[in-house]
This record gives sequence, structure tokens and C-alpha cells, in this order.
Amino acid sequence: MLIFNPNIFRYKGDQLFCEDLSIKTITEHTGTPVYIYSKKYFVEKYSEFSNAFINIKYRIFFSAKSNFNLNVIRIFSKCGSGIDINSAGELFRAVRAGVDPRDIIQTGVGKTEEEIEYGIEQGVKLIKTESFDEICLIDKIAGKLNKKVETAFRVNPDVDAETHPYISTGLSKNKFGISSVEAVKIYEEAAKLKNILLTGIDMHIGSLVSTVSPYLEAVDKLSEIFYQIKSKRIDLKHFDIGGGMGVNYVDGTPFNIKEFAEMLIPKFKKLNCEIWFEPGRYLTANGGALITKVLFNKRNGNKNFIIVDAGMNDLLRPSIYGSHHHIQPVEKNDSREEITADIVGPVCESGDFLAKDRIISEAKPGEYLAVMSAGAYGMTMSSNYNARRRPPEVIVDKDKFYITRGRESFEHLLYDEKIIEDL
Ligand code: LLP
Repeated sequence: MLIFNPNIFRYKGDQLFCEDLSIKTITEHTGTPVYIYSKKYFVEKYSEFSNAFINIKYRIFFSAKSNFNLNVIRIFSKCGSGIDINSAGELFRAVRAGVDPRDIIQTGVGKTEEEIEYGIEQGVKLIKTESFDEICLIDKIAGKLNKKVETAFRVNPDVDAETHPYISTGLSKNKFGISSVEAVKIYEEAAKLKNILLTGIDMHIGSLVSTVSPYLEAVDKLSEIFYQIKSKRIDLKHFDIGGGMGVNYVDGTPFNIKEFAEMLIPKFKKLNCEIWFEPGRYLTANGGALITKVLFNKRNGNKNFIIVDAGMNDLLRPSIYGSHHHIQPVEKNDSREEITADIVGPVCESGDFLAKDRIISEAKPGEYLAVMSAGAYGMTMSSNYNARRRPPEVIVDKDKFYITRGRESFEHLLYDEKIIEDL
């Protein structure tokens, strides 16, 4: 049987452990479904990433959209990371987690007036912008608040990141960024705005990128634009290459960050400015698992189904991207037969599956399965569909575990909703 991410999630005897704790011990306290994360994984991944760039001037901004649990944000912040936030809600979470707003960058293709104002009032380091309309609005709000705001345009390099179309962002047909053809002209225009300081240039080509080549191509394209902008006496101080560095969902072996760094560093050195990164998934995906309980087994025609208590509302990725998440038993039993089955949830949709046609050892009702690589875009994309209560989140630190967010109650489902007698 495939052993996944053996450094963090590994079997001791028959039992699957996260760090030094058996998963079964945790589920006995929390019930299922439950998200379990490893602090060790997060810290190790962060230092792996940062060590790769030790020879250049760089900053990392952990992309909170991948996992915005307060304590996860806090762990990265304590490692020295800044935070990349994509909405007022993520900003609120990061500040609540204790992050200094000067270590936060505010991104997003469609920020509202209220969100921009909130970012400026909080004093974020930089507000990224993705259109001329938007930078004019930032300028206006900054003027009203009597502030000067650091900004950088996200430039769309028109490069194919060769990933799933829903998470590919760096093509000119995607909604993101300003056109690379017009970028210099737009920078020149924006430089005239009184309350704006244009301090950098930014790109993000997509997510789950598995090779270095699209980055090389995009960095080359953007470097040209960077030099042209600088020649217009606009003093750019940083070059933000975004996130998107992939992970391996099949067996958990890591994306080669060293090779990534070695190929990019010569290009970064020429730019002679600070290089910013916004990794999300790379730092979190393989540090988490969603634990679910088998409810029933059944056979429809010649198809086997394992029905579990986690559904698409808990982990959406398989349903919308057809993503592969490795699934393994929490308690191994080598005498079990292997079957081919769909692992499906309780939600009323045929699209509610965690795996399709998966070869897996038989799992009986009451037994637990671990859905791996659930540390990124798992809980953050969960919903209350079918009025299901979102699962708790647990962080393991060596032989201790902490419930950092409890299971939602029925009352959560009714937040601020009331019966209107007149209706
Ligand atoms: N920076 C920007 C501007 C982004 O839009 C994103 C992700 C990141 C950084 C972090 O990307 P990462 O390093 O995590 O790939 N829900 C999808 C992924 C969507 C990514 C959106 N943007 C999934 O589950 O695969």
C-alpha cells in the first residue's frame, strides 16, 4: 500500500499517526469528519522554502486563502512570514491572529470600496491592484483618509501555467491583472496619482503549477516590463512572483523547491530588488488530512460505493476540479481485500464524491479513512450546503493536539436568521 508523506503521517503498527499522535485518539475526542493539521509540516515547509532563497533579498507572504485557520496563520507569522489576504474577511482573520498589518499584503481582482478602506485603515503594507479603475479608487480613498498607499499592479504575463483551467490565471483570456502590452503606459499614468506610491510589480500565473518553465517564461516577460517602468523613473523596489508552486497529491513527494530556486535565482539577482513570494498550497496541502468515518458499503450494479460522513461541502476539490486526494485507512488491516470503489459523501448530489473508481482496501462501517493533502483549500472552501455543520480543525504538535476550531453547532447554521412573523 502506498505510504503517504511518511515524515508526518505514518503508520506505527496498524495505526496512522500524525506526528506522535494516533489519529484514532484524536477522532475519539472530536468525532468525524475532522480536519487534522501538523504544525511540524508547516514549520518545515516554511523553512525549506525560505532556505532555498537565502542568497537573495526576499519576503514570503503566506497565502491565507489556502488555509485561514487563525492558528495556522499564526504559525506562519511566527516563522517570519508575511500574509497575503484576498478579502476583508481574510484581513480580519490575519489581524485577529496577531499579524502586524505592515506584514500583510492585500490582493484580489474585485475589491470593494469598503475593503480598500478597511485595508488602508488597518495599515496594510501594500494593496495590489488589477485595473486602472481600481487604482483610481484606491487613490481617492487614500486621499480621503489622508494616507499615501503603496501599490503594485498585477500584470498578466499571458503565459500558460499548464494547470486546471479553473486555477490558471496568467493567460490574457483570464480576468486577472492588467495587460502586459499596456502595463508600462498604465504605470506611467498611475504614477501621476497623488496618494499612490508605486513600489513594485506583481504576477501570479496560476495554482498547482508543477514545472518551473512557466515561471521562467513569465519572469522573463515581466522583467522586461520592470526595466522599462524603471526607465520611466518609477522606483520599483520589489518583484512579486505570486504563488502557485505545486505539490504532489499522489504520493506526497514534494515539488522541487531547490531546483525552482536554482533556476530562478540568476534572474532575480539581475533584477536587483526584493523578490516576494505568495505560496499557499506548497506550505499547507500535505500537512493536513480530513478524517471521515465509513457509514455504509453498497453495490449498485457492478459499482462499489463506500459512503462516508464527509461530503463535498467539507472537501470540494474532487467535485469541482476532479482532484485526486489519496485515501488510506486510519487503522490498517493487511488481511483486507482491495476493491475498486467510489468514496462518496452524504450530500444530495451525484457530484458529491471524494474519489472515483479508487482501488482501496475494503473499509467497514464505523472504520475511519484519512483523505490526504487536505491542508490547502479544504476547510477554506467548505460550505454549509445541505445545512451541514462544518467540521472542527485540529493542530497536532508532537504528541499534543489542539482543537483550534470546534465543530459548528445547529445554532451556527441560524446565525442572525430569524422568523419574520409578518411573512
Ligand atoms: N497569490 C494569488 C494572487 C493567488 O490568487 C493565489 C491562489 C495564491 C497566491 C496562492 O496560490 P497557491 O500557492 O496556493 O497555489 N481552490 C484551488 C486553488 C485556487 C488558487 C487561487 N489563488 C484548489 O483547490 O486547487
